[in-house]
Amino acid sequence: MSPRPVLSQRVARFGTTVFSEFSALALKHQAVNLGQGFPDFDGPDDVKLAAWEAIQDGINQYAPGVGAKVLRDAIAEHSERFYGHRVDPDTMVSVTSGATEAILDVLLGLVDPGDEVVVFEPFYDSYDASIAFVGATPRYVPLRPPDAEHTAWWFDRDEVKAAFGPRTRLLILNTPHNPTGKVFTLEELEFLGNLCAEHDAKVLSDEVYEHIVFAPARHIRAATVPVLADRTVTVSSAGKSFSLTGWKIGWIIAPPPLRDAVQRAHQFVTFATASPFQVAMAAGLRMPDEYFQELTALYTEKRERLLTGLRAAGLTAFAPEGSYFILADISGYGFEDDVAFCRHLVTQVGVAAIPPSVFYGPEHRHLGQRFARFAFCKTEGVLDEAARRLRAKLPALAAAKR
Ligand SMILES: Cc1ncc(COP(=O)(O)O)c(C=O)c1O
Repeated sequence: MSPRPVLSQRVARFGTTVFSEFSALALKHQAVNLGQGFPDFDGPDDVKLAAWEAIQDGINQYAPGVGAKVLRDAIAEHSERFYGHRVDPDTMVSVTSGATEAILDVLLGLVDPGDEVVVFEPFYDSYDASIAFVGATPRYVPLRPPDAEHTAWWFDRDEVKAAFGPRTRLLILNTPHNPTGKVFTLEELEFLGNLCAEHDAKVLSDEVYEHIVFAPARHIRAATVPVLADRTVTVSSAGKSFSLTGWKIGWIIAPPPLRDAVQRAHQFVTFATASPFQVAMAAGLRMPDEYFQELTALYTEKRERLLTGLRAAGLTAFAPEGSYFILADISGYGFEDDVAFCRHLVTQVGVAAIPPSVFYGPEHRHLGQRFARFAFCKTEGVLDEAARRLRAKLPALAAAKR
């Protein structure tokens, strides 16, 4: 008898992620790492202190499955304060182990095998995996780069309409968007909401970058758009807003029937999430407006620093409206694709970036091969050193390939 395969069919198509490959290469070549999307600086002292105090105070056993009351209250207050979004903390909130768990819980709770899920490309990679885990079929719609007629990343409305059909159960939105930096406008959200209403589809709105938005762009909580209110599960987390990605505190906000569906999955995925960090995140969400303004100012400065550095090296870089990523056009360098460019960058130039074609389905992968993704959630010295290395090597590379 031939041995059974070790891997389930469910995971067989997943290799190791591109992040592992490029992190290992970055380490080996002592490259400046602008690949991975986590800050190389720490979160606020007050929030760290609140976690320490919670541990000292004995808040160390299982939290309630739906999340600690103090955190659910703080999530509701934060929603009202920033978006005028009224949320009942007892029936509309569940706390999860990061947004990543929340995304899987939403798919498990709302989507059946054989259903279709509409998702924009490039996508955050856990969407695709979570869609696969529940046996649903992704229907991809590519976001298009700015051009003569569009000042920001945009989508073709006919392409979105064509992706919807009788089996569409869910639309996954991500605003502000990783990795394009697109912030969806009210008009776009209304268009998508009307389509979802027409097809009775629900919406997962991933808003983890909600506090990293650059004026004049303005983050709109999708669930506050009337046509989306009853059908949207908002997903967010503490990682990006508080520079504490390792804490893995996330949450969903949804009308009670949708919250109930997600909670049914969550209770058997992780059941509950680290108790002391929940208490600390409640303190974080209750920080004064100045904290959030300073975070935006900090990232505005970092965005300018990296944009200037990339452009000085000759790259065409698109200014993001939100998130902490920049996509740069690498098509002028003569490489076969973005993976080849990023391999060269990390091994020969000493800068790690991520090839975004891995965030597309097979049909549209070529669209991502024109770009490289650079993260600017890094300290000034790191951003400056990356810019210096790029400036030293890229112009000659472009000239040689011409
Ligand atoms: C768009 C998007 N959603 C979700 C996540 C994951 O968030 P968390 O760390 O809270 O699981 C990330 C992290 O990079 C992200 O970029």
